[in-house]
Amino acid sequence: MATQTRSHVTDQKPSLTLDTLRVEGVRNLESATFRPGPRLNVVFGLNGHGKTTVLEAIYVAATTRSFRTSRLRDLVAHGASTFSIQASFTERRADLPPLTRTQSAVFSEGKLHARLDGQKPPTLADFAVRSPVVVFHPEELALSTGPAALRRRLLDRVALYRAPTFAASLNRYAKALKSRQELLRRGASTHELEAYEQLLATAGAEIVRARRRAHLAIEPAVLEAFARIAAPGLELKLDYRTSGEDDEQVCARELAARRDRDRRAITAGFGPHRDDLELRLGGKLAREVASQGQHRAITLSLKAAESVAVREITGLEPIQLLDDVSSELDGERTAALLGFLSEMRGQVFVTTTRPELVTVALRSQNPNEFQIVSGQIKSA
Ligand SMILES: Nc1ncnc2c1ncn2[C@@H]1O[C@H](COP(=O)(O)OP(=O)(O)O)[C@@H](O)[C@H]1O
Ligand SMILES: [Mg+2]
Repeated sequence: MATQTRSHVTDQKPSLTLDTLRVEGVRNLESATFRPGPRLNVVFGLNGHGKTTVLEAIYVAATTRSFRTSRLRDLVAHGASTFSIQASFTERRADLPPLTRTQSAVFSEGKLHARLDGQKPPTLADFAVRSPVVVFHPEELALSTGPAALRRRLLDRVALYRAPTFAASLNRYAKALKSRQELLRRGASTHELEAYEQLLATAGAEIVRARRRAHLAIEPAVLEAFARIAAPGLELKLDYRTSGEDDEQVCARELAARRDRDRRAITAGFGPHRDDLELRLGGKLAREVASQGQHRAITLSLKAAESVAVREITGLEPIQLLDDVSSELDGERTAALLGFLSEMRGQVFVTTTRPELVTVALRSQNPNEFQIVSGQIKSA
């Protein structure tokens, strides 16, 4: 509500909280139940003791995926054959009684079994959007400078919250893209190729339309955050540059026309697997002109906008997971990050090797501190 004052908002419990997290057989973590606080949680410990794994377990319970590996079997503790993660979340929406649910993710026999209050969800994507989380991990410090895939994934996460069926479009697209390449390599008939190109065209056009909407959903918040974090007057532009098309007929024609060229390439030269989110500072490509500090400001702005978009789409303040991002920042940038953190109204989990840095700066938020030693989590 627009009339609520800020202190009123921060006095309340956030609209979504993780209340308990039970882990068994997850990497080096000891089997235990973790009870975080409703606002800021600082998980500290030496490198290699399991900080990231705690965030990873939360992320898996919320989304059925990890943010550091595409193979969930990597999370199974050495010597074990299964892992189990059970989370209890409470959702508070205005004028409704609080709603608590359990989300469990059990990996066994090479497969993830997700349950929402004990029931199998219609699809994993339906499960994945119930308890919104936004993760910020060190690899994403390269959001501004690094590969386009990082920026595509940001758009895709937003697109998924808008419409969970987007996950199916992405899957169909990736499979059809691989199959077409395989057929090209084998010199398959035009007839066979057309079938896959039609699939690619349909899924590809869906992806382009969804990413275009996701771009529009984040753009205002990116620009607003950047104007605050970076020097005033510096103009940032954010454009969705697709290598595909939003019209499936056009996609199908393009693919057909490129068969000869694509046969000799690693993958198709046309399609949203090559998309990017182009960043310009004062009209020039950020990749070419931005200073390190400006890249960091762009990165923070993109992440802040992801949270804003997820909040606007779901009506819930996403749970924030910040993995060790301060360790690669200098004093000034750590201050920017902490400023960013102190503005978050949801439940936050921060991992760090330097708790003194985080907890002193954020004392006003009454952080709950947890120390992790050799996979054992203790309240500090
Ligand atoms: N499948 C696994 N089984 C057991 N231990 C693992 C597994 N995968 C990783 N580890 C170990 O778990 C530890 C925790 O890693 P991590 O969560 O990345 O620590 P931190 O974030 O505190 O640096 C590391 O020492 C790593 O070697
Ligand atoms: Mg770590």
